[in-house]
Amino acid sequence: MIKLQEDIVWVGSIDWSLRNFHGYSTPLGSTYNAYLILDEKPTLIDSVKTDGFDELVRRIHETLPLSEIRYIISNHTEMDHSGSIANLLKWCPDAEIVCSPKGEEGLKKHFQNNWKFKVVDSGDTLNIGKRNLSFLLMPMVHWPDSMATYSIHDEALFSNDAFGQHRASVERYADELGLDMVLEDAAKYYGNIVLPYGNQVLKVLAAVRDLKIKTIYPSHGLIWRGNDSISKIIGRYEKWASHQTDNKVLIVYDTMWSSTKIIADKLFSLIDEAGIPVKKTSLQHTHISDVVTDILTSKMVFFGTPILNNRMLPSMASLVMYLKGLKPKNRFAFTFGSYGWAPSAFKELEQSIQEAGFELFQDGIYIQYVPDEKELEKLSDLLPILREKMSSHA
Ligand code: FEO
Repeated sequence: MIKLQEDIVWVGSIDWSLRNFHGYSTPLGSTYNAYLILDEKPTLIDSVKTDGFDELVRRIHETLPLSEIRYIISNHTEMDHSGSIANLLKWCPDAEIVCSPKGEEGLKKHFQNNWKFKVVDSGDTLNIGKRNLSFLLMPMVHWPDSMATYSIHDEALFSNDAFGQHRASVERYADELGLDMVLEDAAKYYGNIVLPYGNQVLKVLAAVRDLKIKTIYPSHGLIWRGNDSISKIIGRYEKWASHQTDNKVLIVYDTMWSSTKIIADKLFSLIDEAGIPVKKTSLQHTHISDVVTDILTSKMVFFGTPILNNRMLPSMASLVMYLKGLKPKNRFAFTFGSYGWAPSAFKELEQSIQEAGFELFQDGIYIQYVPDEKELEKLSDLLPILREKMSSHA
């Protein structure tokens, strides 16, 4: 039994082999966290995805018979958290499903069920014995139905996807594993899952500020406990949700015959020599979800691609399509690349970058075939405007 605190037990499942979570690379696996509160009316907070059901049941059984569960709180309908509810209810058919109004709609549509629902709104409370649980609807963090559950007695926030990370581990607490490392995991999670919903996150943070919180129990990854962990993860969420970036440049590119790589290398050395923090990453070696983690904190992103069949390379097209959905704000961009016989296809790249929310701060630089020394030297003309933009806001 994994006891987290008095009367609260972790009963989730660990997916050690998960390597892709709807397009987001997860080289370290993930967890689906479910929490059992052992009060007069035993209450399960969230379930796990379908193939984690046996592990969930084994963990619950270590504590109490499934038939004793009175409430299953479904903070979020997405099937990584709701997938096992139908099977669970075979063992505790009288349990009520506590969820938001959108949660009820979503669960009915997903599972075509006739479950006993207890629909709650923000501020509603549910007494389960010595505890009153209250609810905070947080639409779009991550789906319209999402909500958090707060235990006043435990000063514990069960935040579902908010504050989560994808990492499978033996450890359950962020400070046990290494706070800085888990904050990095949380950055990747935020960038790839939560980034489009900054305004909604800010509303949730405003509500959370009024709560006394000793522990944040997310639905993925490690738990945040204590002032240091909680203030750091909330501080990062405030920064990310308000689209604050660091004064640094990210150069992301792909290449065919090394011409775009030569331009990327030259840009990197010029910016680096100018004393501006800069990182260079190739789409041949880096998954787009890791590129997004870097974009999350970069004020400026340089996108480089050659032209293939009068289009940008598919790897770059995949990144910019992904970014159109994630909609980062307050960031500058610059485009570059090499071409064979016509540079017209770069228009599509420029338009896509703007549609994704970036401000192009200067006309792109496109070089035919192989860049020569003179063309490479001319790239230094960018530096004055780059310096100026780094000290302004996009
Ligand atoms: Fe972890 Fe939006 O589900």
